[in-house]
Amino acid sequence: MEILIRDTPEASAQVAADVVSKIIRERANLVLGLATGGTPLRMYQELIRMHQAGKLSFQNCTTFNLDEYVGLPPEDERSYNHYMRSNLFDRVDLDPAQTHLPDGDAPDLREACRDYEQKIKDAGGIDLQVLGIGANGHIGFNEPTGSLASRTWVKILSEQTIRDNAVHFDDPQEVPRHVVTMGISTIMEARHCLLLANGAKKADAVRRMIEGSVSASCPASILQMHPRVTVVLDEESAYLLVAKEHYKWIERNKLDWQRH
Ligand code: GLP
Repeated sequence: MEILIRDTPEASAQVAADVVSKIIRERANLVLGLATGGTPLRMYQELIRMHQAGKLSFQNCTTFNLDEYVGLPPEDERSYNHYMRSNLFDRVDLDPAQTHLPDGDAPDLREACRDYEQKIKDAGGIDLQVLGIGANGHIGFNEPTGSLASRTWVKILSEQTIRDNAVHFDDPQEVPRHVVTMGISTIMEARHCLLLANGAKKADAVRRMIEGSVSASCPASILQMHPRVTVVLDEESAYLLVAKEHYKWIERNKLDWQRH
């Protein structure tokens, strides 16, 4: 794992935006995996700024989002579909036909899950997958103790995640209990994973992900088995890391070509 620690969430968003923009510029027909939640918002703002300044085009990108709530139609403001359109898709030159989210409103969810996996495959697989992390260590909506070999499927949210995500709903009772999410295997097949975390609330999950044992009790810990992961943290989310100074030392001593 490449671990990059910055003083503030703003500085870590800049690093994340640099990683994403670099691969967009370098690779034609890039397949980008995207995440929702509060954490990637600053990174999306920075990417939009780069686009508006004429320095970045998404024209040749295809995107696949990690997850979606079951039962919220795309026009529902609380859906991840709506989030992506208002926070990125509608503000850059992405072809709407090239953007994909799991269909949580499909009449046959199982068929929709299989179809989503097939679309990722047909696109040639994901080149760079952006990830956040839940306070309980989930990635996508893959909750603790779920299979580490899962593929895109319908999952049931834990009570903790329902509580954590209730801030985006008027009434906590309205948070859907069911979601469609890329599975852990789907995520692990991405060629490069970029995980972002900010704030002390994520510190325990970050510690378990990086320094704990690989275990379904912290799904993000499976990323220790991935050949190419970049983790971008702010100081608050990194404060429980035992080897924090070592990660900084490694970053300072990288050869030029080893830098993201
Ligand atoms: C949600 C999403 C995850 C996200 C996580 C963290 O449950 N399904 O993909 O990474 O929560 O969200 P936030 O960035 O708002 O803390």
